[in-house]
Amino acid sequence: MTELLLGQVLSFAADPFEAGPEAARLDAALVIEAGRIVAVGAADGLRRAWPQARVTDYGRDLISAGFIDAHAHYPQTAIIASWGKRLIDWLNSYTFPEEMRFADPAYAAEVAGRYLDLTLANGTTSVCSYCTIHPASVDALMSEAQARGQRIWAGKTCMDRNAPEGLRDTAQSAHDDSAALLAKWHGVDRLSYVITPRFSPTSTPEQLEALGALWAANPSCLMQTHLSEQLDEIDWVKGLYPNARDYLDTYEAHGLLGRGGLYGHAIHLEPREKARLAEVDASLIHCPTSNTFIGSGLFDIGGLKAAGHRVGLATDTGGGSSFSMLRTMAAAYEIGQLRGRALHPAELWWLATQGSARSLLADDRIGNIAPGMEADLVVIDLGSTPAIAQATTRAETIWQALFPTIMLGDDRAIRAVWINGTPRG
Ligand code: GUN
Ligand code: ZN
Repeated sequence: MTELLLGQVLSFAADPFEAGPEAARLDAALVIEAGRIVAVGAADGLRRAWPQARVTDYGRDLISAGFIDAHAHYPQTAIIASWGKRLIDWLNSYTFPEEMRFADPAYAAEVAGRYLDLTLANGTTSVCSYCTIHPASVDALMSEAQARGQRIWAGKTCMDRNAPEGLRDTAQSAHDDSAALLAKWHGVDRLSYVITPRFSPTSTPEQLEALGALWAANPSCLMQTHLSEQLDEIDWVKGLYPNARDYLDTYEAHGLLGRGGLYGHAIHLEPREKARLAEVDASLIHCPTSNTFIGSGLFDIGGLKAAGHRVGLATDTGGGSSFSMLRTMAAAYEIGQLRGRALHPAELWWLATQGSARSLLADDRIGNIAPGMEADLVVIDLGSTPAIAQATTRAETIWQALFPTIMLGDDRAIRAVWINGTPRG
């Protein structure tokens, strides 16, 4: 079935951080065949070229690439919005007890389904998620995503110290379990396995070394971890790795720094760390609602983008306080303001789509609307609540029409989601 969608079709010809808002394009229609976008352009021309297509007319709604959440912890779905702790206390008080429950595969399956339903309702078509130390927690998310036809990335979280009994593996079992999951899921349908040491404090050097070797043996995999999120955490890392030059060096020394490495948070970076991350073309993942919610600090989006870093945007569920990438863009805007850089709506939207796709080395497949791209789409109602509708009445540009939805929008703004060329729900 050929599908022809009409609406305000937003795409990017370049990175607006480099090319300005003019990097964005607005068209009136797109055509989908066999799960892929085959044409973007004027409505009349595409109607004439595909007279047999089924037409869905979204009117004034915005049609965009689906949102891509480049760093999430699906097992923390049920503990989102837990009160009053900072990172290390928050992990011990809320996160680890909840992650322990994933020893039960039935619970893992239930939360995985709930998580993907919640994120899809918020217009997120792809995620890159941590699981728990339990291999069945990976099977649960992969199976649920496979059933929905989604392109996702996920991996078993590895921890062999500084975590409670029941939530620890070993260097050897982390390597072997990860290798088995990788063989089972990586490249199956739209699923990708991600090698996932949680962060340096919960891994021994031996475990980091084993996972570095696994990554070297499987270079088509991404590797995800956390870096320099809170100052207490950085002090802890210095105590645990006295010979390391800095936090990044704990990864670098064990084969865990490179292109395809995703470093969550990356707030309090030393000059050497920034230089090395740029040199190897690693990805920094900005998690703004988490950074304010857990009190971590202000990511330097302006400086890091200007220095050429690959930057993705993410919720960091459930350290982050929302499943919504709209709310996440709003928080990125607010953090930008506190750092003296008002991000343009084109930059925010690009981060939540193509920026995240680039951080996952997947921008040749998802994150934009262009011929050849996979048809993962979100359709946005630009007047989804009375507050938003009244704020857009005098809008003269697409950005003035869109910014109130970025700042005030939630799942009510999501008119429709398409996955791999198929409308959902
Ligand atoms: N650092 C290590 N683990 C986590 C986690 O689960 N959430 C956040 N925000 N930071 C972490
Ligand atoms: Zn995280």
